[in-house]
Amino acid sequence: MAKKIAAANWKLFKTPAQAKSFLQEFLPESTGLKSDVIIFPQALSAFAVSIETAKAGNVKWGGQNGYFENQGAFTGENSMEVLKAMGASYVLIGHSERRKLFGETEEMLNKKVRNAQSLGLIPMLCVGEDLEQRERGETEEIIVTQLKNGFKGAVVGKPIVVAYEPVWAIGTGKVATVQQAEEAHAILRETISHIGGPADEISILYGGSVKPDNAVELAKQKNIDGFLVGGASLEAKSFLAIAKALS
Ligand code: PGA
Repeated sequence: MAKKIAAANWKLFKTPAQAKSFLQEFLPESTGLKSDVIIFPQALSAFAVSIETAKAGNVKWGGQNGYFENQGAFTGENSMEVLKAMGASYVLIGHSERRKLFGETEEMLNKKVRNAQSLGLIPMLCVGEDLEQRERGETEEIIVTQLKNGFKGAVVGKPIVVAYEPVWAIGTGKVATVQQAEEAHAILRETISHIGGPADEISILYGGSVKPDNAVELAKQKNIDGFLVGGASLEAKSFLAIAKALS
């Protein structure tokens, strides 16, 4: 059985003080949750998150990005080795904002997946089609290709998480219908099994305008194992409600 996961992608929000106060509100309420919880803070607030989550034990955190080289002349990059040393368990890889705004290629993303695994970090690989691709009927081809490229050379026995995030649903308030999401998740799970992965053990999260009121229906779908949440993860109460939908 794949683990249920509620993941918060804070993007470029929250100072260290804001991250701390979110966790001070969230952590006492999170003890009874059945899902795993992961916080993805921006790098400069990661230290605060690392200190707060270390007190709790049931909430993990990860980097929103990490480079595929661990050290060297790469000004401005984030080292996954340092993330690991700071207590991170995960690293987000291939979010559509990284692909689009920062020009990250499939080859780079694949190197990042492999580097994360070699350090003992769990990569969370994001895949998803944009609106034009969906309208042209290319959704399946796009997500299968992104998944296969990301997984190339990854160690099948080591943990890895997938997030399906249709680009047109991110930050737009337009959530995919439960049918659209479930269909894409089923395709991804089948693809994982074709490439030899333990498809039933790999969590596949849905992301894109998840809110407390749509999380319940989405969570009932067979192939939806959790959520990657942007906007609605910035407030402890709404993120908690989303995590509870997975219980
Ligand atoms: P959203 O973002 O929940 O604000 O749509 C999701 C994401 O980008 O991970």
